[in-house]
Amino acid sequence: MNSNEIRQRFLDFFREKGHKIVPSSSLVPTDDSVLLTTAGMQQFKPYYLDEKSPHGNKVASIQKCFRTSDIDEVGNEKHLTFFEMLGNFSFKDEYFKKEAIEYAYEFITKEMGLEIDYVSVFEGDDLTPPDTESEEIWEKIKKENNENFEIKKFGREDNFWGPTGEEGPCGPTTEIYVNPAGDGAGALEIWNLVFNEYYKNKEGKYNKLDKPGVDTGMGLERLAMVVQKKNNIFETDLFEPIMKVVGNNRVVTDHLRASVFLIADGVVPSNVGRGYVLRRLIRRVVAKGFGNAIEKTVGIIVENYKDFYFELEQNKNKIFTELKKEEEIFNKTLEKGMREFKRGTDPFVLFTTYGFPIELTQELSKEKGAVVDIEKFNQQMQKHQELSRTASAGMFKGGLADESEETTKLHTAAHLLLAALRKILGDHVEQKGSNITIERLRFDFSHPEKLTDEQKKEIERLVNKQIKKDLSVTCEEMKPEEAKEKGALGVFEHKYGDIVTVYAIGAFSREICGGPHVKKTGKLGTFKIKKEEASSAGVRRIKAVLI
Ligand code: ALA
Repeated sequence: MNSNEIRQRFLDFFREKGHKIVPSSSLVPTDDSVLLTTAGMQQFKPYYLDEKSPHGNKVASIQKCFRTSDIDEVGNEKHLTFFEMLGNFSFKDEYFKKEAIEYAYEFITKEMGLEIDYVSVFEGDDLTPPDTESEEIWEKIKKENNENFEIKKFGREDNFWGPTGEEGPCGPTTEIYVNPAGDGAGALEIWNLVFNEYYKNKEGKYNKLDKPGVDTGMGLERLAMVVQKKNNIFETDLFEPIMKVVGNNRVVTDHLRASVFLIADGVVPSNVGRGYVLRRLIRRVVAKGFGNAIEKTVGIIVENYKDFYFELEQNKNKIFTELKKEEEIFNKTLEKGMREFKRGTDPFVLFTTYGFPIELTQELSKEKGAVVDIEKFNQQMQKHQELSRTASAGMFKGGLADESEETTKLHTAAHLLLAALRKILGDHVEQKGSNITIERLRFDFSHPEKLTDEQKKEIERLVNKQIKKDLSVTCEEMKPEEAKEKGALGVFEHKYGDIVTVYAIGAFSREICGGPHVKKTGKLGTFKIKKEEASSAGVRRIKAVLI
């Protein structure tokens, strides 16, 4: 079954069940709380509340989505930046858990002929109760159909969704896992069914909605992978023709496809917001040496998708011109940067003055047997962003989300996290690296084993407690020896200058750091660990967000 057929089967299935088919909305959202459209429900958000849906209360769509949060994962079997999300939705209690789960079961097993490996439901916590209703519905389906898949219970991290933005509808989820063809990859999450039965308000309180709704999302690429019995998404018919042209480079394949869709929706390369996301995608393709594949791949992608997304054909020339233009600009940058690199120019100057990507500096340095001090670079960058933010403060009024404010908050959260880790896991914990984007914090630290769910919860709790206390963040300059005496954390083998800056957060944390930080922790919102995994031997990695 090719992906055109899968799309058609999905839409036909829900049309027959009385759903109105609604076209995908643009990747550029009308809703300013997000940079790019990340889920099918976004265009329908008001209909979960009081606003009347012009499409009726049962709809289905195939939505173009873009998740910058997955950008580091691109290249593995199942992650992408751009993807298509198949979804069915119910507003104002038109239907709820029973119908949603039954539809999903029927579509996966009967229409797609797949076997369910297991499903998951929300186990409940202090904030909202367990979803026993979904569990019972699955039990009944199992009995009636002689199935013996497991019904697993997971926590908030896996089985609770939303809200997108600060407040909004949200609720427990049930997820369907299917085994892909290849072994070793483990069961693949393919469908997420969200039951919007709460409204989370700005104060973080969950209030029951009078009329709940359903929001489901299933990645077309993952579905195609299991239906077509492939080992990874890049072997499906959605990518194969592009992969051939770019010598099976997965990152390049993902980035080119994503760039084509972004430009078709009106995004152009620039240094801010969406334009910067696009710029990074294109530059990565060029830096990897695939600039010359642009022409051919644009043709292939437009051809592949044009019957479903008319905007591609309509904007074909523009897509091509924007990509080539950016390639040209970047090539000039690269030439200049390369000359500077050879002269031994500092990585930070290379980036800020010459636009030379840090990844490239790292790769080139590695070839010469040298290592870039990435910690130092990140600190310089944060300071730099803060300065440019102050300089152009007026420009942000009412405009795009202020990116550097987000990264500053995450930076302060990183300090809280390190202090919390040491209090809960022990003093052996040392920071091994960190990386902050507008959306998340990545933090590496020394610790010999995987964290338990309980430890993760305790760490979150401790960090959130410091946020609630609205502690002041203060900054003092002193001699490195004095900082050490005062218990400030820092890598003392490093050569610090004569004077270091020490940031203190109440009495909770004290670290040598170049800043910037927020003035009061109350600004941070809620700290949440999204993922904890191994980074290298003896080093764990946490990905966390502020919501
Ligand atoms: N909105 C839900 C998701 O994106 C379905 O996973």
